[in-house]
Amino acid sequence: ASAQTAGRLQMDQSGPVIAPEVYGQFMEQLGTGIDEGVWVGPDSAIPNTHGFRNDVVAALKALDVPVVRWPGGCYADIYHWRNGVGPRAERPVTLNRWWGNKEENNAFGTHEFFEFAELIGAKTYLSINLGTGTPGEAADWIEYITSPSGSRLAQERRANGREKPWKIDYLGVGNEPWGCGGRMRPAYYADLFRQYVGFVKPNDSIVVAAGPDATNYDWTRTLMTVAGKDFDALSLHYYTLPTGDWTTKGPALGFDEAQWRATFEQTYRMADMLREHDAIMDETDPAGAKILAVDEWGAWYDPTPGSPGGWLQQQNSLRDALLAAVNFNMFHRHADRVRLANVAQMVNVLQAMILTDGEKMVLTPTYYAFQMYRPFQGATVLPLSLEAPSYGTVKVVDGTAARGTDGKVHLALVNLDPRNAQPVSIDLDGAQLGAVTGQVLTAGQMDGHNGFDTAPVVQPAPFRDARVSGRRLTTTLPAKSLVVLTLE
Ligand code: AHR
Repeated sequence: ASAQTAGRLQMDQSGPVIAPEVYGQFMEQLGTGIDEGVWVGPDSAIPNTHGFRNDVVAALKALDVPVVRWPGGCYADIYHWRNGVGPRAERPVTLNRWWGNKEENNAFGTHEFFEFAELIGAKTYLSINLGTGTPGEAADWIEYITSPSGSRLAQERRANGREKPWKIDYLGVGNEPWGCGGRMRPAYYADLFRQYVGFVKPNDSIVVAAGPDATNYDWTRTLMTVAGKDFDALSLHYYTLPTGDWTTKGPALGFDEAQWRATFEQTYRMADMLREHDAIMDETDPAGAKILAVDEWGAWYDPTPGSPGGWLQQQNSLRDALLAAVNFNMFHRHADRVRLANVAQMVNVLQAMILTDGEKMVLTPTYYAFQMYRPFQGATVLPLSLEAPSYGTVKVVDGTAARGTDGKVHLALVNLDPRNAQPVSIDLDGAQLGAVTGQVLTAGQMDGHNGFDTAPVVQPAPFRDARVSGRRLTTTLPAKSLVVLTLE
C-alpha cells in the first residue's frame, strides 16, 4: 500500500459559495457540436422536440446545466446574426472559415439558441462579433433579442415567432482577440471593447471582456486598468495538452502512464494561472467584485484518426473525468473570484459530455464527473487541507469539500495513481457525523471509455469503502478514481 494521505476538514468553518455557473457548458458552431449533436431539425427521424435531439436534451437536463455559451469561440467573430434568423429555408449557406470550411445552413440561429437554453433550463451566454462585425451590428442583435418595445427589430423578432424578449445573462464582447479574434494587443482590444460596450449598452447582462490566454498576465493588468470600469467579468482560456505542444498534443486513447501523468501536470498549471490572475485583479478590484470567467477549459488531444480536419473530435476517457474533477477542485479553491466557467465543449467537440453518431448517443466519463459534482453547485466551501504523497510534480490525492444546499457535507477526492489505491484519513472538526455514502468513478484501464455499441465501461457505482468513526473519516481510494462522499 502507498503512504497515507492525511487531512483535516473544518466543517465548523465556511468559505465562499461555489457559483453554480462554474459548471457551465460551451457550444460552438463547429463540426458536429451543434448540427447532429444537438440540432437535427424538426423533420429528422431522430426523436426531437422542435428540432432538438430528445436524448441529448434529457441528458443535459439531468446535469442541471447552469449556463451555456454560444456561438463561439473563434466562430463568434465571424458570425453574422442576420444569417440565422427568419424562415430556415431562406437562410443563406455560409462557410465556417475557422473550422474546416464546413458549409453552415444557419438552421441553428438566435431563436434556436434561446429555445434550446430554455429547454435545458440554462442561463444564456452570448458572444458578440468584435472581430469582423461592427458595434452597430452587435447593438442591433441585442435589441432584436432583448427589446420589449415596438421597434422595427423587436417587431421582426415577433414576426419570426417570439413575442417576449429573451434575457442575455452573460454577454461576451469578442473571443480570443489576441488570437483568432483579431490578433490584437491588449491596449488595442481594451479600447475596442470600450467602444463596443458604449454602443451595445446591455441593461441586465453580466458583461464579459475577453481576457488572457493562459499566462498572459500583461493582458489581465492592461484590461483591468484600461477597461475595468466597463466589465463585470474577465475571461481566461486554458487548454490542457498532454505534451504542452500544439503541433503534437498526444492521443485521446492508447496513451501510456507517462502521458497520463504529464496530462495532470499540465492541467495543474491552471492553479498558478488562477492565483496570478486573481492577484492582478485584486490590485484594482480588492473586493473581488469582478468575475474571473474560465469560459474555455478542458483537454485538447490529437483528433480522432480519420475525422474531418477542423472538427476537433476526440474520444473521452477516464483520464478526462479525473482531469475535470481536479479542475473543479481548483475552481472551488478560487470560488470567491471564479464564478463562471465553461468546459470546451458540450457535445462531440474536444472534452465533450456527450458523443453522438447518427441516432446513437453515449455519455462520456466527463459527463459523469459533472454529474457526481452536481451537489457542489451553490454549495459553501469548507476548508479541507490534505497532505498527500507526490505523483510526478503534483499530489497523488486531490480533494475539496463543501456544504451543499441540502445541508449535507460533500467531499470529492481524486486518486491520480493509475496503479495503486491510496489510503486517506481525514480529521473532522465540527458536529459529530455518522453516516457516509458515496459514489466512485473508475475503470480497468487508464483510457477506459464508453463506446456506441458496447455497455458503458465508465459510470458511477456505489462506494462503500469509507467510514466515519469518532472524529475521523477513513477511506481507501481505488487506483485512478474519483470518489464523491456525502456525510450527514
Ligand atoms: O474550443 C475550440 C476553440 O478554442 C475556440 O473556438 C477558441 O476560442 C479556442 O481557441
